[in-house]
Amino acid sequence: MAPLAALSFGRSSSARFGSRTTSFNSPRVLSRRKWLPYSASPSLTSIASILFLSSLAFALYLFAFRRIPATSPEFFFGPGQDCDVFAGSWVPDDTYPLYNSSECPFAERGFNCLANGRTDTGYLRWRWKPSNCDVPRFDAREALSRLRGKRIVFVGDSMSRTQWESLICMLMTGVDDKQSVYEVNGSKISKTIGFLGVRFRGFNLSVEFFRSVFLVQQGLPPKQGPKRVQSTLKLDKLDRMNKRWMDSDVLIFNSGHWWTATKLFDMGCYFQVDGLLRLGLPITAAFKMALETWASWVEMMVNTNRTHVFLRTFEPSHWSDSNQKVCEITQQPTSEAKGDDRSEFGDIITEVVGKMRASVTVLNVTLMGKFRSDAHVGTWSHPASILDCSHWCLPGVPDAWNELLLSSLFANEWRKFGR
Ligand SMILES: *[C@@H]1O[C@H](CO)[C@@H](O)[C@H](O)[C@H]1NC(C)=O
Ligand SMILES: *[C@@H]1O[C@H](CO)[C@@H](O)[C@H](O)[C@H]1NC(C)=O
Ligand SMILES: *[C@@H]1O[C@H](CO)[C@@H](O)[C@H](O)[C@H]1NC(C)=O
Ligand SMILES: *[C@@H]1O[C@H](CO)[C@@H](O)[C@H](O)[C@H]1NC(C)=O
Ligand SMILES: *[C@@H]1O[C@H](CO)[C@@H](O)[C@H](O)[C@H]1NC(C)=O
Repeated sequence: MAPLAALSFGRSSSARFGSRTTSFNSPRVLSRRKWLPYSASPSLTSIASILFLSSLAFALYLFAFRRIPATSPEFFFGPGQDCDVFAGSWVPDDTYPLYNSSECPFAERGFNCLANGRTDTGYLRWRWKPSNCDVPRFDAREALSRLRGKRIVFVGDSMSRTQWESLICMLMTGVDDKQSVYEVNGSKISKTIGFLGVRFRGFNLSVEFFRSVFLVQQGLPPKQGPKRVQSTLKLDKLDRMNKRWMDSDVLIFNSGHWWTATKLFDMGCYFQVDGLLRLGLPITAAFKMALETWASWVEMMVNTNRTHVFLRTFEPSHWSDSNQKVCEITQQPTSEAKGDDRSEFGDIITEVVGKMRASVTVLNVTLMGKFRSDAHVGTWSHPASILDCSHWCLPGVPDAWNELLLSSLFANEWRKFGR
């Protein structure tokens, strides 16, 4: 860990990357020009050879582009970039899915829709395509070699657990000895487990998950409070586990799905700030205070010279009613962005992160999820229970979150490492 911590990272220095057009001007591509046959009236053969040579050049370009991802602007995103990788659409792609959940011991059965009886498979074959650039194709071996020696920590609710599972399954496709990947305490995945840590022994890599659905502390209410108050969320105190998150290379947070009256007030959980109950505080205001607590924790406690901090935005659900009882799983993504995106949470994230001095990357997955009413767990969970239009099947949408996560990491500072 020490060698990494000693290096300084410049996060927002995008200018040193050339634009995509300049990479066409590389000597290799220029020298190709003299091969082109010139003639006053091009014959069919010369047109054919021009076509052939340009496709060859394009293939060469693609090859070079895959070889030297670090210099390719497509891999970079951040403030002020040309390409907003979160604005785009899903395109059909038969090279997906990236893995088979039945062959990945860390994909929980509840998310393995195919194993739980889903018969249509079209939902597996979609790639996220940003409008103005491409996400580099995931390459498990390359990713593993770049992640060697790193500690990646996911913190949040079940959506974070899904992303944790997805990343492990994606990476495991590049590991020959599957036994060399194991959970450190031999723990089994469950909905309520607080900590899961998977080690890739051959790569000295760990990928961990901490369950912290609100990110702030939940605890006993102050004495003399009303009877209905059975617990409180201390909006000004980060989850006690926070000490175990700090010493990492990558930290990915999310929170959102638990900030509802059903999961809070109906369960007797109310808000508390500075020791005082705040019974009338609206949920959005509470979410904002919790996020501000998180933001100052990042600024004070995390060495962002070493640790890359990500915050994932709300993952849309596709319920047709407000009671979350009815929904329809389509067979294909919708052409329009639909679904509940809790846009007020997105606005709060924009505002809070916008004020931070520390560098944090927002993984803005909200829009991309809104097209994917086809990709939820539905009734294909395990044990088969109620209809679910919140969680996602694996493989599926969370894999795309990870492709964006990795491309962000590799595009930025980590191009200096692992090669
Ligand atoms: C996934 O793997 C399982 C077990 O090896 C196999 O039975 C199944 O056909 C595979 N599914 C796909 C879609 O390849
Ligand atoms: C494994 O990685 C950690 C950093 O996460 C480092 O401190 C340690 O020296 C590495 N061990 C080996 C055997 O490379
Ligand atoms: C699991 O392992 C971690 C790290 O090795 C350790 O800190 C923690 O106490 C263990 N937890 C349990 C429940 O065994
Ligand atoms: C992070 O790097 C900057 C620039 O190199 C340096 O000024 C700062 O002290 C570093 N912060 C920490 C916590 O190491
Ligand atoms: C996420 O992307 C959407 C659509 O591009 C945008 O409206 C929203 O402001 C973004 N949110 C954040 C937090 O960056």
